[in-house]
Amino acid sequence: MGLFAPPPWGYDDGMDKNGFSNAQWAFLRVLGIAETVAVPPPPKNPGLPSVQTLPSCIGSPAVPKAELQATAEADQLPGQNQVMTLGQTSPAHGAVPSDAHLGQRGRMIQAMDWGELTHSIHACRACSLGETRQHAVVGAGTPAGPWLFVGEAPGAEEDRRGEAFVGRGGQLLDAMLRAMGLSRQQNVYITNVLKCRPPNNRDPLGPEVKACLPFLQRQIALLQPKVIVALGRFAAQGLLQSQEPLANLRGKPQFYGEIPVIVTYHPAYLLRNPVDKRKAWLDLQLALRTFAQHSSRTAASAVATE
Ligand code: URA
Repeated sequence: MGLFAPPPWGYDDGMDKNGFSNAQWAFLRVLGIAETVAVPPPPKNPGLPSVQTLPSCIGSPAVPKAELQATAEADQLPGQNQVMTLGQTSPAHGAVPSDAHLGQRGRMIQAMDWGELTHSIHACRACSLGETRQHAVVGAGTPAGPWLFVGEAPGAEEDRRGEAFVGRGGQLLDAMLRAMGLSRQQNVYITNVLKCRPPNNRDPLGPEVKACLPFLQRQIALLQPKVIVALGRFAAQGLLQSQEPLANLRGKPQFYGEIPVIVTYHPAYLLRNPVDKRKAWLDLQLALRTFAQHSSRTAASAVATE
């Protein structure tokens, strides 16, 4: 079965008489609102898939030794010339920029609306990537959606088309979203730490991340997502202003201000190391649970203030 074949529990098997796919029912159940929408037919596999019923788009169960090697590789810190000088350690509660830390450029960006921000990303020459890019990539998907996925930087295809995650990694990301009952067309916005492609897809350099991060921070302030999923080390460390390895940031919600951040592997890494897709699926399930908890908390506090 191919990597992008439909998952085995029928998530992509069309709609039932209520007009929902199994994936959508699973998601509504996670949110605890399935019963209020309609009475579904008995699902083939109720609830979210467990690790044992890992969807084929996420991959096959791990071989422990290979998994350990792949994890060690994924967790490597940047090399000497590519160190991210972003901050010291994770702040207790995220890394929202404070006025004291913003320079004049940062303050200007933090005052922009979405249109001004988009324009300013396209016009940006704050680092040398502005000279080599074909297109700056603002993002892709549904800005009004409650989910934000953050990657590293545009690749060749994204640079050519000016849209985030449209290459092979993007296809895997779309499959991961489908497995969660999400899609960029409906409820997910996708962007990157860097808005311009580093030549030959090399790792982002510290000064490039520093120059570009205010754009991401302003995007988050304007989008106000309920949950952020950080794809890979650069997204996680950039968002959280941390130098912790990915392994230390996975497994529990981190925070960007009040917004929960779930850290997982980058799709390009998963394409090279499919053995870690099992762990990525655990992360995505954590993201769904966190989203459900956060939504019910938000709903409860709305009721309390009525
Ligand atoms: N990898 C990323 O991190 N972002 C993209 O947009 C494409 C590939």
